[in-house]
Amino acid sequence: MTTTDVEPAVTGPDPIAPALARVGLAEHIDALRRTSPKPLDPWPEPRLPVRPGSWAMELLHRGQPVPSPRGAALLRTLCSADLARGEGTRLMPGRWQVTAFRGALVVRDRAPSGQLPEVYLGEDGLRFAASVADARPRGSVLELGCGAGLATSVAAQTAARVVGIDVVPASLEATALSSRLNGLASRVSAEWCDLRALGDPGPVDVVMGNLPGVPVAPPLVYATAGDGGADGFALLRPGLEVIRGALGRRPASTDAVRLVMRVQSLSTDDQPFVLSLLRSLAEDCRLDLVVTADSRMPIELRNGLTARYAEPLNPSSDPADLLRRIDDHAAALGATSYVSVEVIGRDGTGRVAFVDATSPVRVTSRLVVTRPTAAGVDQVAAHYLARLGQLPMAFWEFAGDEVVSITAARARRLWTAFGEGASVREAVDDVFADLAPADRRAVLATTACLADALTTAGLAVPRHDSPRATR
Ligand SMILES: C[S@@+](CC[C@H](N)C(=O)[O-])C[C@H]1O[C@@H](n2cnc3c(N)ncnc32)[C@H](O)[C@@H]1O
Repeated sequence: MTTTDVEPAVTGPDPIAPALARVGLAEHIDALRRTSPKPLDPWPEPRLPVRPGSWAMELLHRGQPVPSPRGAALLRTLCSADLARGEGTRLMPGRWQVTAFRGALVVRDRAPSGQLPEVYLGEDGLRFAASVADARPRGSVLELGCGAGLATSVAAQTAARVVGIDVVPASLEATALSSRLNGLASRVSAEWCDLRALGDPGPVDVVMGNLPGVPVAPPLVYATAGDGGADGFALLRPGLEVIRGALGRRPASTDAVRLVMRVQSLSTDDQPFVLSLLRSLAEDCRLDLVVTADSRMPIELRNGLTARYAEPLNPSSDPADLLRRIDDHAAALGATSYVSVEVIGRDGTGRVAFVDATSPVRVTSRLVVTRPTAAGVDQVAAHYLARLGQLPMAFWEFAGDEVVSITAARARRLWTAFGEGASVREAVDDVFADLAPADRRAVLATTACLADALTTAGLAVPRHDSPRATR
């Protein structure tokens, strides 16, 4: 580690953004992300090598102590912003850790081990920020639930003014600091507000939001950043009222984007439940919406994940009972999967286009597979790896690499199980009966990836007849 990558004389009212720009922190993290096996992980693979001598990368992103970089103003600013604290000749990590996505820096609080950070930042936040970057919002922007402030900063790169609201005070601090690190503080304001009490915010040019959407069976306690109430839309519904107030009364303008959202939704095999709410919004506000589902997981996996996060917050509930209640709740709502959708709205006539960009293979999909050939097996292995890379980060939070390996190791048995025209769920029941219940949930997702790989390699075709009589 050297101190030579920081220029000594950093002057001006706030030296932090120019100093981080000079050491290329955002570019460095983005470069790392491009080589990471999990590129949408807010903190990409910690074992990937970083450029030597990069104090900002080591200290701010990875949380390692570094020799103090030169520049008194910069040092003071790092410490006063709680990004670092001085200890002799070294700088230690402070309250905030820094990451980046598509050129924008963003902070989140460092949680003590075993605890969740107060400020939420996840894969959905990165996907949402990508949608916002592509939309290039202009004019005045209102963000509902700004969290760490990644999308807020991305929006402020093109918009004149962005107001982010949130109910978690630490999120407001994070959003303000993130905008400051990006040199965009003059265009961003972060305000405490419960969107359920916001009412009509008056006209704005663009509304954006990535609201909590995990369906949580009452009376379970769940994290504020995820809790979407009984059907997952308890925050979305008042959010849509805010959007009606903000966008509904304006005359149709250009083809500029007016709405950017990411929504999590329970779904049947082909219809996300959120579509009906979005259709009525489109009609009321004369917005044309493009709704794209880009990630889907079996409902069993979502329920397992929800139970795992709910366990520490509901210590008096027996874990097995908790999971059973969550399963029953999702089943009563008629959900077979859980999808993540991007919503882009422009002024128009109220049309909604739904694009399902997820794999067509569902756990209920029945496949007929042909005899394996050596070339076919190689092709399937390559497609399987590619499909695993598209699994939502939540999968990796739930399951480890062993679930991936065991699916590959039992591929031939699965091949045989599918041979007669079984569904993914039936094949999993046949081949993985010995696995622990949690792993059985995860293996549904990996087996769906394998089934997708077989289909892509031309070695399996869907079977569209009635379910097998026996099994
Ligand atoms: C899924 S997180 C998304 C955060 C951020 N926009 C992102 O994409 O990373 C949802 C955010 O909504 C906030 N939130 C939850 N309930 C809210 C409410 N009633 N009013 C305003 N914000 C709320 C949470 O604190 C959280 O920061």
